[in-house]
Amino acid sequence: MKKVMKYAFMLIGAVVVMLGAFVLFIYVSDFPSYSVQIPSVNIDYTPSRVERGKKLASMLCVECHQNPETKQITGRLMFDLPPEFGTVYTKNITQHPTKGIGAWSDGEILFMLRTGIHPKTKRAVPPYMIKLPTMADEDLYSIISWLRSSEPMVQPLDVDNKQSSPSLLTKFLMRVVIKPFDYPTKPILLPDTNNSVALGKYLVSNLGCNDCHAADVTKVNALEIEKTPGFMGGGSNWTDVTRTTLYSSNITFDKETGIGSWSEADFRKAIKDGIRPDGRPLSYPMERKVQLTDSEINAIYAFLRTAPHLHSPHKPAEEFVIAKNASKGEQIYVRYGCQRCHGESGLGIGDLRQAHKKYPDDSTLTDVIKHSSKYYPETVMIQWDGIIKDDEYAPLCAHVRELGKKAEQAMVR
Ligand code: HEC
Ligand code: HEC
Ligand code: HEC
Repeated sequence: MKKVMKYAFMLIGAVVVMLGAFVLFIYVSDFPSYSVQIPSVNIDYTPSRVERGKKLASMLCVECHQNPETKQITGRLMFDLPPEFGTVYTKNITQHPTKGIGAWSDGEILFMLRTGIHPKTKRAVPPYMIKLPTMADEDLYSIISWLRSSEPMVQPLDVDNKQSSPSLLTKFLMRVVIKPFDYPTKPILLPDTNNSVALGKYLVSNLGCNDCHAADVTKVNALEIEKTPGFMGGGSNWTDVTRTTLYSSNITFDKETGIGSWSEADFRKAIKDGIRPDGRPLSYPMERKVQLTDSEINAIYAFLRTAPHLHSPHKPAEEFVIAKNASKGEQIYVRYGCQRCHGESGLGIGDLRQAHKKYPDDSTLTDVIKHSSKYYPETVMIQWDGIIKDDEYAPLCAHVRELGKKAEQAMVR
């Protein structure tokens, strides 16, 4: 008996030591590396590709890479990443030869966007950098053409990249769960734009709808989207700029818990304006997409209609708690979810801390809040006109000014 106990203890001891060694290994090691085979491509940067690439990049790349204070794509802190993943910065993707990606070949950019393997370091890129394994070659050529173009946003800027510190959890996921995609062996063609369902499927698979509206982001099937568990039924958790949790909604055509009773026009309003049929705004990170045409949105609707109807009620979001003695303006700011994008301080994916200086009188500041598209044509900010009550603008403007002044004082100190 004693002997059995002794062996049992030795075995447990050995397992503990091995586990410890494994954790230590993950902790000190970098992301795993893979073999890199850069495709040889020769992309013609035509004006129509640059134009198309700009539209795609404005939906898929700019926000993550854009510093909200300068509006330049030189990288930013990923405010909205759950803290368990560590502190992460996106990178300078301007044409700067050393700090940006000016010296990368087209094939290197293409290879990374397709596979998720960094062509220079040969390391896998973390899950929070986009991968586009099913995007048509032509659309990827367009994004690359835009990155190479004479558009102001991509011009070289001498801004250093900040060092990220991914957590143990991220490193573990990178070793064990997340695998890069194979570089496709056949050309990927654009969908037939006359086939609404096919176009809709293409957009759902390439605009992130599939990733975010899955039941669990770690189980997304990016190559055969319909095989994603809980396809379009929502339920996965997301965080806003304040790192408050909210859940994606059910966008199958289930009548009770999905969008089965929405008309095509209701759906267009939600996607373009960010407003539901009952008047409630959609919350970040669900962003309205002003860049999509009506027929593209109708195509998404047509495709969603074909997906199995799932019964999956929308889980309530975590509450963002503010001080009991918060000003009336701050209460309004939080009631409408301004902090989801602007944070508590006014700085998030959008920066409103200069607004008090740019718009010294309340009537202009109110107009900016009501009709921000007039000032920023492609903004993800909802047009608050008709949603925020008229008598709420004065205290809300006061709070916006307060945030600007607080930031100024912090600079002086
Ligand atoms: C969800 C946020 C997010 C989106 C969307 C995103 N990126 Fe990134 N990107 C990142 C992060 C984070 C990194 C840094 C990864 C790392 O640390 O290795 C990165 C790195 C890169 C790099 C490598 C730069 C370097 O010097 O190592 C390139 C190139 C790039 N992104 C291009 C793009 C393009 C093009 C798009 C749009 C198709 C895009 N990104 C969309 C977050 C994002
Ligand atoms: C970054 C993750 C993310 C992406 C990408 C995303 N969604 Fe969402 N979506 C969400 C979240 C989270 C909600 C819930 C928002 C809320 O609680 O207000 C939501 C809500 C919605 C709603 C409202 C449904 C309802 O019943 O209220 C619709 C419609 C929708 N998304 C459609 C889409 C479509 C179509 C796409 C692709 C073009 C897409 N979403 C891409 C995260 C995302
Ligand atoms: C979905 C994200 C989102 C939400 C929610 C949001 N905003 Fe914004 N807002 C932005 C972004 C992004 C910008 C920067 C303009 C741009 O480039 O799109 C901005 C710009 C602004 C500006 C102009 C800043 C300037 O310097 O010109 C003000 C003022 C503002 N927001 C106030 C508000 C208020 C008040 C609320 C709540 C009622 C709010 N925003 C909600 C994303 C958002």
